[in-house]
Amino acid sequence: MQKRDRYHSAGPSIIPSDVAAVADAAANGWYTNFRHHISKFEDEFKEYLGVKYALATSSGTAALHLSLAAAGIGPGDEVIVPDLTWVATGNVVQLLGARAVPVDIRPTDWNIDPDKIEAAITDKTKAIFPVHLYGHPADMDRINAIAEKHGLLVIEDAAPAIGSKYKGRAAGTLALAAGFSFQGAKLMVTGQGGMLVTDDKTIYDRAVSLVEHGREPEHGIFYSGKTGYNYKMPALCAALGSSQLTRLDDIIAIKHKQQAFYTERFASRDDVQMIEAQPDMYCNYAYPSLMLKTDKINRDDFFEALRAKNIDSRPTFPRQSTMPTFMDADSPVAKSVEENGWNLPTAAYLTEEDMGYICDVVEGILDNA
Ligand SMILES: Cc1ncc(COP(=O)(O)O)c(C=O)c1O
Repeated sequence: MQKRDRYHSAGPSIIPSDVAAVADAAANGWYTNFRHHISKFEDEFKEYLGVKYALATSSGTAALHLSLAAAGIGPGDEVIVPDLTWVATGNVVQLLGARAVPVDIRPTDWNIDPDKIEAAITDKTKAIFPVHLYGHPADMDRINAIAEKHGLLVIEDAAPAIGSKYKGRAAGTLALAAGFSFQGAKLMVTGQGGMLVTDDKTIYDRAVSLVEHGREPEHGIFYSGKTGYNYKMPALCAALGSSQLTRLDDIIAIKHKQQAFYTERFASRDDVQMIEAQPDMYCNYAYPSLMLKTDKINRDDFFEALRAKNIDSRPTFPRQSTMPTFMDADSPVAKSVEENGWNLPTAAYLTEEDMGYICDVVEGILDNA
C-alpha cells in the first residue's frame, strides 16, 4: 500500500550526529582551524582505504580531472573509457584536450569489457580509465595486465564504489590513482565533494598544486607555476564526510538489505534480471540495478507507469558514443543496457513496507503490460 507521497530513487542517510558535525564546522572551521576538518577527513579516508595519500576535492569530477591531469594526460592522447558511464568520465578526459575512446561493457557487471580493450588501443593511447559502475568492481587484474603489456597508465573512476572490493582489495586502490564522489545521490555524501587517492607521491604532489591554481608556495605564498583549478573541498563538506565515514558500514548494510529484498522478490520472474556481484567481488550495492527482459513494454513506458504511482527510478546512463562531443563506438551490450537497464529506488529511508509497495507496483505493471 502506498504510504508516502513519493518514493525517491536515491538519497542519503543523515542522522543528528551528521548534522552536529556540520554545525561544528560552521561554528569552528575558520581562522587557525580552517584546515582542521579537511585534514581530518583526508586522514580518516586514507586510513579507511589503506592508501598513502588522499586529497579532498569539490566533486568526484574534480578528483578524476586532477588524477588525469597529474598523470600527464593531455592534448593528442587517447584514453580508453567504458562507453556506458556517467558522462563525467569522458568529459574529464576531453577537458584535458585528450580523446575519450569508448569501449563496450560486459552484460554481467556493466563494466568495461577487457576482451574488447586491446582492439581500441592505438599508438596514441596513454591510459585506461575503468569505472566501477553502480558499485560493481571492474575486472582490474585483467585491465592492469593489458595496461602493463602496452605500457599504459590505469586510473580508476571509483566515484560510486566506496566500500566495494575486488578480490578482497578495496576499489580505488587498484591502479595509479582513483577518484570517489560524495554527491547527494551517492552512498556516502558531503553535499558535493570527492576524494583523489593514490600511493604515488608525484601524482599527489602535482594534484595538491593543481587543486589550487597551480600554486607553488615554495616560490612565494601566492605564486602559481602552472595553470590549475580551484577544486578544494570546503570544511563544512569535509565535516559531513568524516561523520558519514564513521557510519559507512551501517550505510552499506542498508544498501545490502535493499538489494537482498529486491533480489528475493524478483527471483522467480524471467522478465527482470537483477545485476548481482560477480564471484570474488564485493559490491556496495549503492544502486541496485536491473535489466528489463520483456517485449511487452519498453523501459520508458515502464518508467512513466512507475512515476504515475509516485515512484522515482533511474534509467541507466546513455552511451557516451551517442553524444555529439564523443567519437562513435560499436557497443551492442552498452546499447542494450542503455535501453533496458535501470536502478531501483535506493533512498536510505526505504522500509521493507516501502520496498514491498515498489515491488508490487513493478510486478503489476509487468503483469498487465
Ligand atoms: C561513474 C561516475 N563518474 C564520475 C562521477 C562524478 O562525480 P561528481 O558528481 O561528484 O562530480 C559520478 C557521479 O556523479 C559517477 O557516477
